[in-house]
Amino acid sequence: MAEMKVTPWEVAGEIDYDKLMREFGIDPFAKFSKALPDNVLFRRGIVYGQRDFQRIADCIKNKKEFVMMTGLMPSGKFHFGHKSLVDQIIFYQSLGANVYIAVADIEAYNMRNPNMEELKKTAIEEYLLNYIALGLKPQNCDFYFQSARSNDAKLSNAYYKLAGLFARHATFNEMQAVYGELTPGRMTSSLLQAADMFHPQLPEFGGPKPVVVPIGFDQDPHIRLARDIGQRIKEYSFIQLSSTYHKFAVGLKGGKMSSSDPTSYIALTDTPEEAAAKIRKHAFSGGRATAAEQKKLGANPEIDVSYQWLWEFFEPDDKKLRQIHDDYKSGAMLTGELKELLIGKVTAFLREHQRKREQARKQVDKFLKAD
Ligand code: TRP
Repeated sequence: MAEMKVTPWEVAGEIDYDKLMREFGIDPFAKFSKALPDNVLFRRGIVYGQRDFQRIADCIKNKKEFVMMTGLMPSGKFHFGHKSLVDQIIFYQSLGANVYIAVADIEAYNMRNPNMEELKKTAIEEYLLNYIALGLKPQNCDFYFQSARSNDAKLSNAYYKLAGLFARHATFNEMQAVYGELTPGRMTSSLLQAADMFHPQLPEFGGPKPVVVPIGFDQDPHIRLARDIGQRIKEYSFIQLSSTYHKFAVGLKGGKMSSSDPTSYIALTDTPEEAAAKIRKHAFSGGRATAAEQKKLGANPEIDVSYQWLWEFFEPDDKKLRQIHDDYKSGAMLTGELKELLIGKVTAFLREHQRKREQARKQVDKFLKAD
């Protein structure tokens, strides 16, 4: 396996999460899992790291106000690798958090695709519709585009002013240290992103309050930079950001699920037939070369992608999952059987999800009010 590399632009090699956390200065999440309402994301350690989460745990416990803020890059298809973040957003919303979701269209314009119309379409068709179908509610949810923060000029001015003022409080050297190669587009995007994370605490948005930013490990450089800048700006007394870090979803062929490789992911808009075919053809197996060998020696669930997907997405019942694990490991269950079990669950999920996604169209306007 290649050397581990985790940056906002590249994730490669086998990921050693504990090593990554030591390098980045991220703390384990485990001690908070029991304090939260039961959820597979925390119980199974899919949300694995955190910074300053105590503040959020206290808010949840004492029913105090807090914000959940995160952003999405409007490119590619919405696939299972994106789902755990959305499940977290919905989880915090159900606990009463005010939810802020930034569509990073300015960042995407500067880094990837200079077609604002297309970015908007992707944000709605691929992201928002799937978010709604997964359970996101319009109440307590501020879904906005970086290019159009709000129709209320006071709110909008406050957000862009913050991004502007932040520039003074970051140095070229530290940006370079965080990003490696620097471009004006990267600089702009990181300042705007820091404004995404801190602006819920501006007076125009109700003043200082705890904010939790759930992200993947690759996005931590953005958080580190935002935390530093946020502490330096004296015009405001921001409460430091809290953040959590989820593990990367494993791709069909092993390794990370990647938007640039359609055989590594299943999109939530793939037809059930496409999904079944992808699993049969590509899902990496921890099984043996022949059925006879597997019956005798058993398979390795730990490296088997179908099993990993059941663990992360499709079998929330710990007892049932354990049974599958043990049967597969002992040789009582063959790889074909495991794949068919997964396929049954994936296709049922997709049928239901896609029905909800069409229903969700009626709700889109409620999220796009920009106020
Ligand atoms: N940079 C993030 C990405 O590439 C998107 C983003 C923009 C974001 N603003 C944010 C993430 C604020 C978290 C918080 O996906």
